[in-house]
Order: sequence, then structure tokens, then C-alpha cells
Amino acid sequence: MYSSFRFFSGLIKPIQYNRNLIRISINNFKSNENISVIRKYYSCLNSTKSHFLWPIKPKSIARYGAISGTLFKSTQNTKAKKYVGYWLLTCSGMVFVAVVLGGVTRLTESGLSMVTWKLFGERMPRTEAEWQAEFFNYQQYPEFKIKNSEITLSDFKWIWYMEFGHRMWGRAIGAVYALPAAYFWLAGHLSKRMKFRVAAFGLLIGAQGLMGWYMVKSGLEDRFHDESDIPRVSQYRLASHLSLAFILYTLFLWSALDNLIPPQTLNISSESAIKAARKFRMLAHSCKGLVFLTAVSGAFVAGLDAGLVYNSFPKMADKWIPDDILAMSPKLINITENHTTVQFNHRVLGTTTLSLITLLWWMSRRRTLPPRALLAANCFAAMAWIQVGLGITTLLTYVPTPIAASHQSGSLLLLSTAVWLTHELKKLPK
Ligand code: HEM
Repeated sequence: MYSSFRFFSGLIKPIQYNRNLIRISINNFKSNENISVIRKYYSCLNSTKSHFLWPIKPKSIARYGAISGTLFKSTQNTKAKKYVGYWLLTCSGMVFVAVVLGGVTRLTESGLSMVTWKLFGERMPRTEAEWQAEFFNYQQYPEFKIKNSEITLSDFKWIWYMEFGHRMWGRAIGAVYALPAAYFWLAGHLSKRMKFRVAAFGLLIGAQGLMGWYMVKSGLEDRFHDESDIPRVSQYRLASHLSLAFILYTLFLWSALDNLIPPQTLNISSESAIKAARKFRMLAHSCKGLVFLTAVSGAFVAGLDAGLVYNSFPKMADKWIPDDILAMSPKLINITENHTTVQFNHRVLGTTTLSLITLLWWMSRRRTLPPRALLAANCFAAMAWIQVGLGITTLLTYVPTPIAASHQSGSLLLLSTAVWLTHELKKLPK
């Protein structure tokens, strides 16, 4: 069966013959030298044939590429590659929505309404009696006893639906991921490298589900006894859950870009221009790392409700460094448990990230970069300013749900522009 897929080549146009073979016509060769290299490589070939079939083996092609230099660029089925790309992009979009849903669930204080977890078979109560039973279960836990003892069944239903929606969305991600993954794998549309990534993504999705429940459990434990205690999940587990979501999102997006928009090549030959472009790329990666670190520190702010202290900017209660920044002992514990320190660190990280991204943008005006990389640098810088603006507004307005949720989504948009920029810089001349 002939397939219409054609592959890029500097010298010849091989045609896909079937899933495992490509057909190369000797007539297409422009130089005898290449024909002899091919014949030498496949010494078993009958030299009188005008064409031959070549197994699609990326490794052997890479080896051949090393001999002839310009024969092949890619042997992957380009259409399948696009489908895989769209699938991965859908998964990254779904992870994005999950993060937003998770943020709104937390901000509306709905996350502790479901007190059990079943991987399969979690379902909505159907009758009034089932709802009453679910409400009764909730009443056994600290959040009801200490904070919500006044709520009615209809209030409870509302927070329950929020948490249920978030959990079901997580399961939908699992399904939208696993079914196409199995299809692409079995149909032979995944390269060896993609197979490795697909297996790793599957593990990460599973780990994220488990981490979600491990986090919820920390809010259900019998460790809140005082009237002033606020039942909430552990900030460490919240930060781990959010970090894992950000990692998953980044990996999905990066792999989708690999398949959908391969980076543009940069035509520069002067050694100094190449060196400058590499330095720029290194700074872009550092900014991406800093965005991630700032987001993790933001999860600690969210986990401790530390956005409800020192609601002024740039100073904290008229001081650049507040007095109680090292109030806890041992000192190290302040970094993750003292509300003041956690907020202070997030401010410092946020403004440092913004400064570095602005420097990166300024440098991008003075470098020779691929056009799309330049556009990505502009978007990265614009998003950084918006994100910091949203953060400051969240703080000054005492964390209202819509603004805080926008600040959280903004961090993912910022990360997306960072991923896009660094991806565009992937192919700099050596
Ligand atoms: C690059 C800059 C920044 C990034 C990437 C970032 C990211 C984040 C993230 C991911 C969260 C956690 C949201 C959640 O889980 O609900 C957060 C929370 C927060 N951030 Fe930022 N942030 C940045 C800058 C700032 C700045 C400059 C401020 C204020 C001075 C700020 C104030 C806050 C506050 C008050 C919260 C807690 C909101 C809540 O309780 O939901 N952020 N940030």
C-alpha cells in the first residue's frame, strides 16, 4: 500500500511504503557519491535495482545521516505527529482547567466536603437519604465541628459539588490521556522517545491523583482542637499538589509544541552572535525556573492564608522587613510556617522574577533571535507585569475569590509563555 506521506530530504524524496518501510528511488539521487554510500551501507542490495525499500529505524537513519550529512531530516509520519500534538495540547489544556478548578475549590473552602475517596466508583448521592448520609459523614470531621456547624444541607450540597467537579475533572484527564495513548502506542505512532514520555506522563497523572487525596486527608485529621484552629490542608501537601500539576502542565505543553510547532532555526554564523543567543537562552531558562519557584512559594501563601496579613504594598506595615519575620524557632521553620515570612518570600521572589523577565525582554531587543522567539519574549514580559499586578491587587483587596483565582491562572499563563519562549530557542546553531 502506498501512503501519500512524503518526507523532507535535502537530496531525495523517500515515500512511505507501509508502516515499517520507506521506498527510495535511486533515480532521485543527485550524486553518485550518495548512491554508493547507500549501497555500501546496505551491502546486501542488488545493485541493478532502481529502487529499494528501507526499514524505518530512527537509529540507522541517524547513523546514515552521520555518513552523508544531508540525506534525511525526519522519518516520522507527519500527520500522526500532528494528531499526537493536538492530543497532548488538549491534555495540557485540561490540566490548566484542573488547576483553576482546584484554586476555586480552595478559595470557596469546598475542598474538605468529601470525606472519602474511591479511585473508581465515586458517585453523586441520588436520593435525599443518600445526601443526608453524606452530610452526616461530613459532620464527623473538624471543618464542620469548628467552622461550619451552622451550615444547612443545601449549603453543604454546594461545596460538595465543587469538590466533586474537581475530582471528576481529574478522572476525565485520566481518560482523555489514557485512551488515545493506548491507540497511538498500538498504532505505532509514537517514537521511542515519545513512548518513554507517554509512560512517564501516565505515572505523573496517577501520582497527582494520589497526592490530591493525601492533601485532602491532612485537612480531615483530628489535629484541630482549639476554637481558634482553622481546619485546612497541610501547606506542604498543597504546594506538592500544585507543583506536580505545574510540572505535568509544562511537560504536556513542551511535548505538544515539539509535535506542533517545531522551533524556527536561526541563521547566524558569527561566533559572538551565537554566544549571545546562547546566553539569552540560559537566562530564559532561569526565568522559567524562577516563575516555577515563585508559584510554589505562592502555594505556601495560599495554604497558610498568608495573603490575609500585611495587606499593604510595597512595605509591610510601614517596614521593608517586618519585625516578626523570624518569630518562630527553630529559624528555618519560618520559611514554610510563619505567615509573615512566607508572604515576604513570595513578594521578593515575585518582584525578582519580574525584574529578570524585564531584563530578558530588554536583551531580546538587542539579540538576533528567530521571529517567533521575539514574539514569545514580548508575551512573556507582558504576562509577568500582569501577573505581578494581579498579585498586588489580590493582597490589597484581602484575597477575593475572582481576583485570587485570576492570579493563580495568571501564573500558569506566565509559565506557558516561558515554556513557549524556551522551546523557540531550542535550536540555536552549535
Ligand atoms: C511572578 C510573579 C508571581 C507568581 C508566578 C505568583 C504565583 C502565585 C501562585 C501560584 C499562588 C498560589 C495560588 C493558589 O494556589 O491559589 C499565589 C498566591 C498568592 N500570591 Fe502570587 N505570584 C506572583 C507574584 C505575586 C506578588 C508580587 C504578590 C503581591 C505582592 C503576590 C501575592 C499573592 C497572594 C496574596 C497570594 C495568596 C492568594 C490566595 O490565598 O489564594 N503574588 N501566587
